[in-house]
Amino acid sequence: AWPRKIFSGIQPTGSLHLGNYLGAVRRWVRLQEAHDDVTISIVDMHSITMPHNPPNLRENIFVMAATLLACGIDPEKSTLFVQSSIPELTEFNWILSSLSTMPRLAQLPQFREKTRLVKEIPLGLFVYPVLQAADILLYKATHVPVGADQLPHIQLAQHLARTYNSCYGETFPVCEAIVENGEASRILSLQDPGQKMSKSIGDLLATINLADSPDLITKKINSAVTDFTSDISYNPNKRPGVSNLVTIHSQVTGQTIKSVVDEATTLDTAKYKERVAEAVIEHLSPIREEIKHHLARRNEMIHLLEVGASKARQQAQHTLSDVKQRLGL
Ligand code: ADP
Ligand code: NA
Repeated sequence: AWPRKIFSGIQPTGSLHLGNYLGAVRRWVRLQEAHDDVTISIVDMHSITMPHNPPNLRENIFVMAATLLACGIDPEKSTLFVQSSIPELTEFNWILSSLSTMPRLAQLPQFREKTRLVKEIPLGLFVYPVLQAADILLYKATHVPVGADQLPHIQLAQHLARTYNSCYGETFPVCEAIVENGEASRILSLQDPGQKMSKSIGDLLATINLADSPDLITKKINSAVTDFTSDISYNPNKRPGVSNLVTIHSQVTGQTIKSVVDEATTLDTAKYKERVAEAVIEHLSPIREEIKHHLARRNEMIHLLEVGASKARQQAQHTLSDVKQRLGL
């Protein structure tokens, strides 16, 4: 059996929204606190598969690193680094590309979605899921926490691990996806509870960012779309807007859904929104302060990321030299 090892990547999009935090990053922190071996990569190589602005990308890498640290990723316990600082990854990516087929990549739903409006599809965008698999395999991850939309990509990583193992001998664990099924797995847009909170929503009021000021958080929650019933109840199908606020409230306070709803029986939605806003502000304020703290100490962050990269790189070099030898390279 392979030693249990958790790997996850996150694109350096700048700050995180509440959905990313509750649905992803906080789970990594919990795994880390449960003494799992957790590796987190800030996947900047993925960010160049679409047109981008270099100074923004560099800044966003730091903002993401500061945000992850502020959320509780502890570089003493976990391995945190920037993807592009591991040159072995792209070398390994070439090797895995040679085991991948075009039809298999072309059928991946995210590729079809992302390229719907793109005339000349960049090759990087096409092989992106292979790079993702390369990351998972290079660190011999056994468990990969992801959102449900990423499952086809995990299946590709599993397929490549099996293909490699059967061609060249047992080298890689076949990873398992860890998909969150609880309430936190789907925090909804505040403006349209028919869709999930996402950075790709244009409406600024729809998502709460971890770096938002208390005033802005209050404004966003006050203008959240609910319904024409004024009392508070939890029914995600019939009352998605109010239920989303209840979920957020329960997630940030650690209370159960039931106790949150019980405490709100005397409130109407307007009053309840005030209470949710207070709870979110109370939870996010220290995180926001920590983000600022880390961004003001950039050299310390650079050092932390270098230490993380050298830990990751040792493993990457070890894997790659074994891989090349088995391939006859
Ligand atoms: P976005 O939808 O903002 O582009 P990503 O697709 O980059 O977010 O997702 C990054 C991580 O955050 C994934 O693990 C994903 O499952 C999680 N995540 C994203 N949006 C939400 C949400 N609204 N609720 C819960 N988790 C989410
Ligand atoms: Na997305």
